[in-house]
Parts: sequence; C-alpha cells; structure tokens
Amino acid sequence: MKTLIIIPTYNEKQNIKKLLKEINQLKLKNLDILIIDDNSPDKTAEIVAKLQQKYQNLFLIKRSGKLGLGSAYITGFNWAIKRDYDYIFEMDADFSHAPKDIPRLLNAAQSGADLAIGSRRVKGGKIIGWNWQRHLSSFGANKLAKILLGLKTRDATAGFRCFRAQALKKLDLNKIKSNGYAFQEEMVYLFEKNNFKIKEVPVTFKDRAQGKSKLGKKQILEFFQVIFMLKFFKYKKIIKFCVVGISGAIIDFTALICLVELFSVPILIANGFAFSLAVINNFIWNKTWTFRNTEKKYLKQFSQFVIIALIGLSLNILLMHLFVSIGLHYTLAKIIIVFIVGAWNFLTNKYWTFKLNNNKSVQF
Ligand code: GDD
Ligand code: MN
Repeated sequence: MKTLIIIPTYNEKQNIKKLLKEINQLKLKNLDILIIDDNSPDKTAEIVAKLQQKYQNLFLIKRSGKLGLGSAYITGFNWAIKRDYDYIFEMDADFSHAPKDIPRLLNAAQSGADLAIGSRRVKGGKIIGWNWQRHLSSFGANKLAKILLGLKTRDATAGFRCFRAQALKKLDLNKIKSNGYAFQEEMVYLFEKNNFKIKEVPVTFKDRAQGKSKLGKKQILEFFQVIFMLKFFKYKKIIKFCVVGISGAIIDFTALICLVELFSVPILIANGFAFSLAVINNFIWNKTWTFRNTEKKYLKQFSQFVIIALIGLSLNILLMHLFVSIGLHYTLAKIIIVFIVGAWNFLTNKYWTFKLNNNKSVQF
C-alpha cells in the first residue's frame, strides 16, 4: 500500500522545510510527498529541490506560473495514478493542517471511505484564527453548496483530504471545471453524485502563522461561477432535449402546413411525412448535441429512436383518450401528456438508445 501526500505551494518558503520535517517524523510506511510549485517568486521550489537530497521520498513538479490550486491537484492526481499510489492526500503547506492528523485520515480511507475529509464542521472539529469575514464566506460557501447542489458533506470546502485512488480513477479528471479553490467543492459534488463514500474526520484548522493566504476576490468569484455551472450542468441534457423537442415540433407543424397548403398533399400523408421529418431532425440533434454520442451505430440507434417515438405517439393518443374520458379538459390533458411523453422519450433515449459503455461516464 503506497501513499502520496500532494502539497501545492505558492510562496511557502517559511513553512515548507519545517512541514516536510514534521511529516517525515511521523515515520509512516511507504509514504511519499509531492510538491507542486507554481514558480513561487520566493523560490520555494529551490528549497524543496535541495531537500530532495535529504528525503528520498520527496518529489517536485515545477509549473511555469500560478495556475491555481485545483489544477495543481489535478496534475498531482494524474501523477499519482500513473505511479499506482493507493491513497492520495491533499494538504496545505502552511500548517493549517496538522501533520499529526494524517494517520487518522489515512485510517478512515483504509477502513473503506473513498474520501476522508479533515472536517472543521463536524463534532470535534474547529477553526482557529480566522476573522469574521473569512468565517462568513466559508459558512456561505458551504450553505450555498448545500442548498443549490444538495451536498450532504458538512465541510465541503476543506482542503485536507485523503482519497482512495480507486475512486479517483473512476472519474474523468479532465472534465473538472474549476482551476482554483472551487475545486474542493466540485470534487465533493462528484463524489456524492457517484455515490462514493465520504467520511468526515474532525480536525482543528489553524490559520497560517507565516506567509499570506492566496484566496482572493477572483477565487471567490470563480467559486460562485462553478456552483452555478454545476447546478446548470445537472439539467443540461434535459434542457437540450427540450430545445430539440421544440425544434422538432416546429418542423412537424411547418412541414404539415406547407405540404397541405402549397402542394395539396392529402392531410394524412402530409402528417406522416412531417412527423418523419421531425423524428429525423430530433435524432440527429439528440445524438450529436444533447447526448454527444460518437458511436457509429447509426442504424441501430435510429431504429431505437423511432421505436421510442412511435411508442410515445401511441401513448400520446391513448392518454388523451383516457384523460378526456374521465372528464379532463383536452388542453390540460395535453399539458400533462407533453410531460409524461417527454419524460418517456428522454429517459429511454438516455438509458437505451444513447447509453454509453464508457466506464468513465459515471459523472456527468
Ligand atoms: N501550486 C499552487 N498554485 N499552490 C497554491 C496556489 C496556486 O495557484 N494557490 C494556493 N496554493 C497553495 C498554498 O501555497 C497553500 O499551500 C495551499 O495551496 C492553500 O492556500 P492558502 O492560500 O493557504 O489557502 P487558505 O488558507 O486561504 O484556504 C484554505 O482553506 C480553504 C477553505 O476554507 C485551503 O485549505 C483551501 O483548500 C480551502 O478551500
Ligand atoms: Mn492557508
């Protein structure tokens, strides 16, 4: 069992040496440390490079400039997955996360949690040294994530974590939207959405004594953007499916009127033709846009799509008959039917016609 602690650094020259010493004093077995430095102007990377001679378990990735906390961790995760680590830590360089808590987090992950979070918001957890503004923004960030994204995790912004690599491997890390601090909440969102097991382990978070926090206005703004984007992404496919449905209805209607009025085609034939045109239109857009399905099974998928559309049409007629016969006004009946048939079309196409067999498709 191999463990990696990833520590992103930006101007941490006052902290890094002491931190590495304290982590190594824990004498944990098969433990490596990876520093991801974004070309810190204070030359943190040079200190780390020197310490590599002393610590065989110390690795360093130097990036060209300040690319953000989230992207630093993604770089680290990919590095760790390639080298077959089993447990992967996130940790700050400024002693806000106490090295002595590492074994407790590791233990939680080893006893079955896909993600162990060093939590400040469960019984026994604490935050020391923040001003009220910082308390408020952290509280707000967690509340908003709870309300908008339905997160159950109490401390979804925490940056002290231990992941089981097996769980990380199931996610497509390239699809993560945040580069900065919002990354923490996005990861929790992905884990909860995929029903991975999260355990919150109480820790005390102490604000840094040396150096400065890098959490600025830009990061706070990005944080809100990401929350709204994740919220929207939850409904992205349904929204696109509706747009396609409306385009199909317009085509159906226009084609019918044109054929009947301009070309005097008999109504029933014109109706069948217009309906087919709409089905072809919807198929193309749903395949390439709504579900972004790139499989080459055009014929098979089109047949499935047509079968679903025909069942939807029969359902439409049947339900109208039923609703009107129990006394519902036909307009109200139509509204209910649009929802029922729409849901039928959407779900069957999503889980049957355009179902992806890709094992990384769990998330979005
Ligand atoms: N490589 C790299 N690039 N490292 C960065 C960057 C970056 O752009 N930005 C920050 N870091 C490093 C810092 O050097 C530090 O080791 C760690 O990331 C955390 O940064 P701080 O600036 O100390 O963050 P904080 O104390 O304000 O925020 C902490 O609490 C937040 C929740 O309230 C962190 O733990 C966050 O992860 C957490 O979301
Ligand atoms: Mn900090």
